Amino acid sequence: MIDPKKNPLASAAATDSSEENNLLTTRQGHPVYDNQNLRTIGNRGPATLENYHFLEKISHFDRERIPERVVHARGAGAHGIFEAYGTVGNEPIAKYTRAKFLQEKGKETPLFVRFSSVIHGGHSPETLRDPRGFAVKMYTEEGNWDLVGNNLKVFFIRDAMKFPDLVHAFKPDPVTNRQDGERIFDFISNTPEAMQMITFLFSPWGIPANYRQMQGSGVNTYKWVNEAGVAVLVKYHWEPLQGIKNLTQEMAEEIQGKNFNHATQDLYDAIEKGEFPQWELNVQILSDDEHPELDFDPLDDTKIWPKEQFPWLPVGKMTLNRNPVNYFAEVEQAAFGTGVLVDGLEFSDDKMLQGRTFSYSDTQRYRVGTNYLQLPINAPRQKAVTNQRDGQMAYHQDLSTGINAHVNYEPSTLGGVKEAPKSGKDYTPLYNAKLVREKISRQNNFSQAGETYRNFEDWEREDLIKNLVSTLAPVKQHIQDKMIELFTQCDADYGQRVAAGLKQFKGTDHAGSPIGSAHTDEAVKQAEEESTEARP
Ligand code: HEM
Repeated sequence: MIDPKKNPLASAAATDSSEENNLLTTRQGHPVYDNQNLRTIGNRGPATLENYHFLEKISHFDRERIPERVVHARGAGAHGIFEAYGTVGNEPIAKYTRAKFLQEKGKETPLFVRFSSVIHGGHSPETLRDPRGFAVKMYTEEGNWDLVGNNLKVFFIRDAMKFPDLVHAFKPDPVTNRQDGERIFDFISNTPEAMQMITFLFSPWGIPANYRQMQGSGVNTYKWVNEAGVAVLVKYHWEPLQGIKNLTQEMAEEIQGKNFNHATQDLYDAIEKGEFPQWELNVQILSDDEHPELDFDPLDDTKIWPKEQFPWLPVGKMTLNRNPVNYFAEVEQAAFGTGVLVDGLEFSDDKMLQGRTFSYSDTQRYRVGTNYLQLPINAPRQKAVTNQRDGQMAYHQDLSTGINAHVNYEPSTLGGVKEAPKSGKDYTPLYNAKLVREKISRQNNFSQAGETYRNFEDWEREDLIKNLVSTLAPVKQHIQDKMIELFTQCDADYGQRVAAGLKQFKGTDHAGSPIGSAHTDEAVKQAEEESTEARP
């Protein structure tokens, strides 16, 4: 049973459980005496159109859905708290960033997290092979900070231009409406920078056992800026204190046969039981330059910054301790974005990050509405004070007391809003380069993917090969050949094992199979034959 007092979205009336307050009304506040019967002419007669309560009820129902997220539609969320350590490793954090909520040891910041899978719809099984989203919104004293990441530390592509094509290749075929390994590997065989992500995705790391036992990473490179305006490059990583647990394809299929909401349920139940999941936030830090000594570009999100070279330094801890009381209001309408940064946390020139930053708020204005930032789940905890006005569903004006409500422009001498004082020295990077349209020069598409392959445990490598082979088996020969060539460039054994596996599948036809489970068609056929035989 949900305690409405714990729900910050509930109005005072909603927390009053007296008999009088539980009586049904229309949204106009009129008491509803009969919620069962339409008004009709005679007992069996036609309905009349002045059924105000019915018309309101049904027309609101007709509008209950908003567009799903175009990616990451399936998700679960929870509220919690972030506790800062005040240090980064052994050093005071102020040396690297002036972000206020990170400075003081023990300082708590409320937050909301949404975990998700990427490709399929809002009620798709949570056992599918897919990256998992890990989005955190912190309601800091200086406004909101969102860290929108995933569980795999890297991404498929390094240039935002390619994102819609990547997603189209993984989404269902526009004709058959089925996810299809052939379309996926047609795209991937022409996208060699994806090899490390593909290696993770087709291994058990592509199906985390639940949301509590998975890591989260910002993936893209950001910057931290200190009081003196000096910047460093950073990457963020969440480490689950519950440990990490991933599933083989068979384990996932077993779970899916019984419960396709298992991850949502696991998170909700753990929090209800008081077993609050926790993650430690770590950062990796590099000086703010191009690092020509590295064999990869630090702004390339298909690469891991090796832990041995760039240690994970803890900066705080997150605890999830409260379930949403209304999924739609808090989880579905939650809107995260990579542009949502506080002073002291900055963008880097990572080309993906720049593209993402446009995309999130653009889609949210469409998906949730112009005034999505006025919704309680998205609004900062301190009052937003802006001159942005009106638009669909404007809930209030972004004003605080003492501001002249007649003045919705700036500057003004009539008591309108004023610019805030500057905090710290500006960070002013210098650019001197030609405007170009080019790939980055240090691509190094294969060596980290090979290392990832070699670092897997035996069972992880075996599952990876099995999943790749079963997905690639129905795919056209020239795409298979290209993929074997790419796997071989990562690691000779990797390529050889996929090639050997594919030889055994020759002659079978599973076109249109989803990723990782091409055996399904065979299994279904076999089950049909068996059930036919069993019939009298
Ligand atoms: C959600 C775009 C790359 C993590 C979304 C959404 C869009 C989007 C349009 C839906 C947002 C909404 O409806 O509220 C892009 C673009 C990318 C990109 C254009 C590349 C250019 C990435 C990467 C990551 C990521 C690299 C992981 C590091 C997420 C997560 C969500 C999301 C976690 C779900 C947020 C939530 O729970 O509401 N993305 N994305 N995206 N994206 Fe990306």
